[in-house]
Amino acid sequence: MAIIGASGGIGSALADLAEARGAEVLRVSRPGIDLDRPESLEEAAAAAGDGLSHVIVAAGLLHRDGHGPERGWHELDHDWMVETFRVNSVLPALAARAFLPRLRRGERAVFAALSARVGSIADNRLGGWHSYRASKAALNQLVRTLAVELARRNPQAIIAALHPGPVDTGMSKPFQRNVPAGQLFTPAVAAGHLWRVIDGLDRSDSGGFFAWDGAPIPW
Ligand SMILES: NC(=O)c1ccc[n+]([C@@H]2O[C@H](COP(=O)([O-])OP(=O)(O)OC[C@H]3O[C@@H](n4cnc5c(N)ncnc54)[C@H](OP(=O)(O)O)[C@@H]3O)[C@@H](O)[C@H]2O)c1
Repeated sequence: MAIIGASGGIGSALADLAEARGAEVLRVSRPGIDLDRPESLEEAAAAAGDGLSHVIVAAGLLHRDGHGPERGWHELDHDWMVETFRVNSVLPALAARAFLPRLRRGERAVFAALSARVGSIADNRLGGWHSYRASKAALNQLVRTLAVELARRNPQAIIAALHPGPVDTGMSKPFQRNVPAGQLFTPAVAAGHLWRVIDGLDRSDSGGFFAWDGAPIPW
């Protein structure tokens, strides 16, 4: 299997748990993948080879270098928006282009992309975080679109968007005061939740959006 964004808090925990269960994991992250060199995704997929049981995209961007999620429309910024969409929407799409053809055929295989509940349009009552929300909504639409094509090309394969819940990583650090006490998962606990959801997905779930407890999330 391959985990893209394996240097991150959740990505590394997903890889650790998979290895503890005996899987062979190719950990993919920068500088091995570089969005300034889109072909780097193809190179990573070639290194992973064919017949993959699982591909997980755990890369994502919420804040970096003093830039954070917008609190209002006055904070919308061209370069930050583009960078957020590049990491949260374009990277998973390029990963799909490179890795979906390498999923094993004739038996169950899963491509999962970590999305976020705030990408749900139906669930958006608070506003704010414009770029992150919109880039995850775009990711969700990509997953749905890819699922239609995947069903034709590799009927045993499944693609899904997953929400890990609030997880104690560098990404969530500045925002953890908003998480009710006792509801912040360690990366190891979150990885256990996510593997349980991934293991439970069947073909009828392909193209869906699921939370850490397996519950479907409205678009
Ligand atoms: N933590 C949460 O509470 C939470 C909640 C909902 C959804 N999620 C989603 O879960 C996923 C994992 O989040 P996390 O908490 O594990 O975040 P994290 O610890 O910040 O890890 C982010 C990962 O994304 C990679 N990445 C960022 N920018 C990149 C770029 N330009 N090119 C390639 N890789 C890049 C990072 O690589 P580098 O190490 O090279 O920077 C790292 O591997 C994300 O999609 C996030 O949106 C997280």
